[in-house]
Amino acid sequence: MAKDKTFTVGHTVKRIDAVGKVTGEAVYPGDVSMEGQLWMKLRFSDRVHARVVAIDTTQAAALPGVVAVFTAKDVPNNEYGLTMLDQPVLCGPGSNSIIPGADVVRCYMDCVAVVVAETEAAAAEAVQLVDVTYEDLPAVFDAEAAMAEGAPRLHADHPNNVLCHYRIRKGDLAAGWTQADVVVEGEYYTGYQEHAYLQPEAGIGYIDDAGRVTVIVAGQWVHEDQEQIYHALGLPADQVRVIYPAIGGAFGGREDMSVQIVLALAAWKLRRPVKIQWSREESILYHHKRHPVRIRAKWGATRDGRVVAAEAIVIGDAGAYNYTTNKVMGNANLMATGPYEIPNIHVDTYGVYTNNIPCGAFRGFGGPQGAFAAEGQMNKLAEALGIDPVEIRMRNALQEGSLLSVGTPLPPGVSIPQVIEACARESFWKKGDIGWSRPQHPQPDNPALRRGVGFAAAFKNVGFSFGAPEQSWATVELYGQTEIEEVVVRHAGAEVGQGTHTVMIQMAAEAAGVPFAKVRLIGQDTAETLNSGSVSASRMTFMAGNAIKGAAEQALEKWRNEERPAVATYQYRPPATTPYDPETGKSEPNFAYGYVAEAVEVEVDIETGHIRLARVICADDVGQAVNPQLVQGQIEGAVVQAQGYAIMENLISQEGRILNPYLSTYLIPTILDVPDEVKSVILEYADPIGPWGARGMGEMPFLPLSPAIVAAVHDATGIWMDFIPLTPERVVAALREHGLGVI
Ligand code: MOS
Repeated sequence: MAKDKTFTVGHTVKRIDAVGKVTGEAVYPGDVSMEGQLWMKLRFSDRVHARVVAIDTTQAAALPGVVAVFTAKDVPNNEYGLTMLDQPVLCGPGSNSIIPGADVVRCYMDCVAVVVAETEAAAAEAVQLVDVTYEDLPAVFDAEAAMAEGAPRLHADHPNNVLCHYRIRKGDLAAGWTQADVVVEGEYYTGYQEHAYLQPEAGIGYIDDAGRVTVIVAGQWVHEDQEQIYHALGLPADQVRVIYPAIGGAFGGREDMSVQIVLALAAWKLRRPVKIQWSREESILYHHKRHPVRIRAKWGATRDGRVVAAEAIVIGDAGAYNYTTNKVMGNANLMATGPYEIPNIHVDTYGVYTNNIPCGAFRGFGGPQGAFAAEGQMNKLAEALGIDPVEIRMRNALQEGSLLSVGTPLPPGVSIPQVIEACARESFWKKGDIGWSRPQHPQPDNPALRRGVGFAAAFKNVGFSFGAPEQSWATVELYGQTEIEEVVVRHAGAEVGQGTHTVMIQMAAEAAGVPFAKVRLIGQDTAETLNSGSVSASRMTFMAGNAIKGAAEQALEKWRNEERPAVATYQYRPPATTPYDPETGKSEPNFAYGYVAEAVEVEVDIETGHIRLARVICADDVGQAVNPQLVQGQIEGAVVQAQGYAIMENLISQEGRILNPYLSTYLIPTILDVPDEVKSVILEYADPIGPWGARGMGEMPFLPLSPAIVAAVHDATGIWMDFIPLTPERVVAALREHGLGVI
């Protein structure tokens, strides 16, 4: 074909938002100001678990400049939540809410009052003058303690605080143990993680020209934000509008509401623009985190390295509200036995309410916690059997047609064996007559430094799982007379910094057969687009691509029939998925996956406990790299974020209170910490139903890094450290316990 492919699928195109972000011209929610705007401050709970007996707003309201103080009784329908309406917008007496106990605060993140004033300073001063009378309730801060008989209960409808429990029962576990020649057991612990996106929560609410309550804010799904706002305000959908300008990162942390509902409430009541800007401290204190998870696992294998039995108990601390816990833990449940075909499996996974900060979506969505245990078990089995870690994975990797733990095959396009081999070949391994092996790794001259190498693999779903409704709309408009002069694409998908808008334009150009420069995108505004689903679950390239492709095909058909402009709107619906069977977990959990493997080299300073991540080799099957440089960017970004998760980021929560809500005390990787090398090995085994074969890939490079680091630390020191983050203090303690380092 003579068509110039330079600006379409498969080529690195410069991002459409690059210049604005580099020059500072890009407008983020905090940059938007309006004539006559007011300022908002939120009064968060002073207690970790208490009944709010009374709220006296007299003093606050009397402060000069204060325009309004809102409390629970001002919210028409006082409940919200992405997958479950279990959280009051404002906690306090006298509210109209379906939640039993909307007058109860269950964590420090709960909000009891909203102050709106002429200036930010007046709002800040007044918010402290709101006088709240509490009646303390007993609290619980440990997930297992919260499940115990007699523990304080957070939600009346959840005995033992268990908000979800998933079971997997495959094969005959007892028979599996009898076949096993070796059995390894481990207890794994993963900590909190803070999203630490560059742009803290901010936004402005106002009444637009059409009289709609409008919020300009950062999020991951404009239509979902709209839905939660119109529910809380008791308005029809078309009376509420949500617009995203530039978004300074999300990573799952913007899947749930922060300032959306309260901004809309104030703008709706006051008919004036109302602005809010959170500080970094507020951002860290008041948005959800990645779930801390404890996993007890026991796996058995035959002498030749076949895993024949796997058992795990997975317990996630949900914090005080669900957020997306029921979905995240579902994913952890599926991924706790890894991308391996194991005939006999028992897994029990729990999400448990506590009075800690709520936990929810964060890149990987339960997958990193599951993979941490699964890959740890696989690496321990390799050690116990004297089989190379790559070789043992190749003997167990899921194949086309293999049955998952949930008793059904993966969708076609399974490539985990190829991905594992590509990662091994591109890193430290060689394939010989007896399979994969690795030469002795060279050690540094400094005796305090020990180098080691580790390997891990994972799979990550693309799209919503377990029967959740899944779809995406796109509209393609073709303008011109004899030839197509302009293509307008309407798609609501959020550009959270990953480059999705550039990729959507590439896919539209490819589908319409025009150069990149002829395509214009209208996006992320509920008044201009139809529902696209969220930017989450590594789904946007896959879902938007199929939607845009379908719309473009229909628009081209109309173009050929002489319609001018030729406009088509198309809804893509992937194959249906099904929920877990409550007894056995049997299900068709997902319609597509990406596959990933990582090899790492670390250097452990046995005197200081400092771990230096020296090299990472990351092989990802992305199906089709629509924009190879953006794929590389996702790999490098995910690796560095996972590096923080594994060895640096230590969010300290004491009795429900976060003690280090600052980037000076909660340390994330900087340029001085990143690996010397991150080698991206981009593989393109087409997904049969992906657009141009593309899978999703935003999350998968995150998953295997922490278990690969743990394996490398073991290779360097001989010690399994099954807890992250591996901060220097913890590493030193573990080393000394084993007689290593300076005693
Ligand atoms: Mo995500 S963690 O699926 O936003």
